Amino acid sequence: MEKFYITTAIDYVNGAPHIGHAYEKILTDIIARHYTQRCDDVYFLTGTDEHGIKIQKTAAAQGITPKELCDMNAQKFKDAWKALDIDYKKFIRTTDEDHEKIVQKIFDKLLKQGDIYKHSYEGLYCQGCECFLNPKDLTEDGLCPDHLKKPEVVKEENYFFKLTKYKDILIKYIKEHPDFIVPQFRANEVLNQLEDIQDISVSRAKSNVQWGIDVLSDSEQSIYVWIDALSNYITALGFDTENPSDTFKKYWPADVHVIGKDILKFHSIYWPAFLMALDLPLPKHIFAHGWITIDESKMSKSLGNVISPTSVLESFNLEHPDAFRYYMASSAPCGRDGNYSDDDFKEKVNAHLANSMGNLLNRTLSMLVKYFDGEVKPEFKGENPLAKKALGTVQIVKNHFDNFEIAEASLEIISLVDAANKYVQDNAPWTLAKEEKMIECGQVLTNVLDIMCIICALIYPYCPNITADMARQLSFNLKTKLDDLTADNIKTGKLISKEDIKPVFLRVDSELADKSQKK
Ligand code: MSP
Repeated sequence: MEKFYITTAIDYVNGAPHIGHAYEKILTDIIARHYTQRCDDVYFLTGTDEHGIKIQKTAAAQGITPKELCDMNAQKFKDAWKALDIDYKKFIRTTDEDHEKIVQKIFDKLLKQGDIYKHSYEGLYCQGCECFLNPKDLTEDGLCPDHLKKPEVVKEENYFFKLTKYKDILIKYIKEHPDFIVPQFRANEVLNQLEDIQDISVSRAKSNVQWGIDVLSDSEQSIYVWIDALSNYITALGFDTENPSDTFKKYWPADVHVIGKDILKFHSIYWPAFLMALDLPLPKHIFAHGWITIDESKMSKSLGNVISPTSVLESFNLEHPDAFRYYMASSAPCGRDGNYSDDDFKEKVNAHLANSMGNLLNRTLSMLVKYFDGEVKPEFKGENPLAKKALGTVQIVKNHFDNFEIAEASLEIISLVDAANKYVQDNAPWTLAKEEKMIECGQVLTNVLDIMCIICALIYPYCPNITADMARQLSFNLKTKLDDLTADNIKTGKLISKEDIKPVFLRVDSELADKSQKK
């Protein structure tokens, strides 16, 4: 694998980030970090989606300009991603000047080649979705099924994109590429939607929507937000209709667009059609994750249960985001909805990260110090009964990541931790020491530490801070590529002194957590 280009959805900036946005960025960061362990060149893009009627109205309601609103909220997203250790390479804002210019050129090209045409239109527009809805998709009460709001009747002369021209070729493409849409069960939904697809409006009258990119050849119209937003995936790399940059040539097509299930239609129908019209290759995968609920209910401003990711870190007094990252990433099987609850969070991270993984390392190193002054003697090295399972787990984890099964991969890693714990329990090195079987005792400890290095590498994408501490105590190089991992990682000689042993993850303090007030 020479390069890996991965993107997230770009978030609307009419509010601050919540843990649903965070879930996606965490998943993406974990996938990106996993692939840095397999390939040298990973490009991770995220950003914010800043145009459209929703932003225009929110800004007006707050008595500020749309640009002021965007600047203020884009910064909140950047701050949140920093707090969560989201290690993106580029953060694109759709108000970036170079993005706006290229979007105008893209629109102009499609117009000139006849993929876009002008047409008078009356339709039902949902501001939440920023798109026209098909009357047959509304609820019985005539509401948008996602936002439960009545769409407004909009009558305008708009530009339209000839989506119908690409219908058959798209259906064929999706059928012939079963791994294009992940998880596969979503592909059928998309194929159904494609059956009654219409040409789509790709501009709005400036008299109604001022906060948008102008159509180059028509100052009365602004470019519809989804053409603008979706193009970020190529403009960020320096795409140009005439002279695409070397960066673009190197990274496009994307290896995966990570998005939520609610915007799959835009990514698996509109976006591929735009790309075909531009004569560009399609992304390799569209991975649609599920939604995060809070205590099993939908997060919404009206229910007052919107949680910001940084408030979780603060209320549990976490020194780094690893536990939250781990919890969110393992909250749901691939593509399914997940849930956040304070109690479940405490229980899971205490059980997995503190009790199982952290304690295992701590206990093993402490015994190495107690019985051998922290030294691994050459005679402790030999056949390791855990090696087969550990190296097998590396392969299984890689396979899961290839299918974007991030929670499934985490379960495999924890099952390796459990196996190592069981091995310690079964072989009781403390009894061996009492019986003065010192070589056997040293072998058991060394076997566990060798496997701990593999665990450390595998869990690194989820918990970059905890694993940095683990790696330091194990003298393990965290930059080791997964394919170079063996079961022989611990060097012989002095490994650690008593004062250098420290717990890598402290149990989340339940009293503190109970007292916490989430904003
Ligand atoms: N701006 C568009 C995306 C344009 S991509 C070219 C948008 N923005 S959004 O802010 O509404 O959502 C951003 C991402 O967050 C989407 O992928 C969406 O699915 C995801 N989530 C929003 N709420 C969520 C949850 N409650 N749970 C998980 N993800 C959710 O759509």
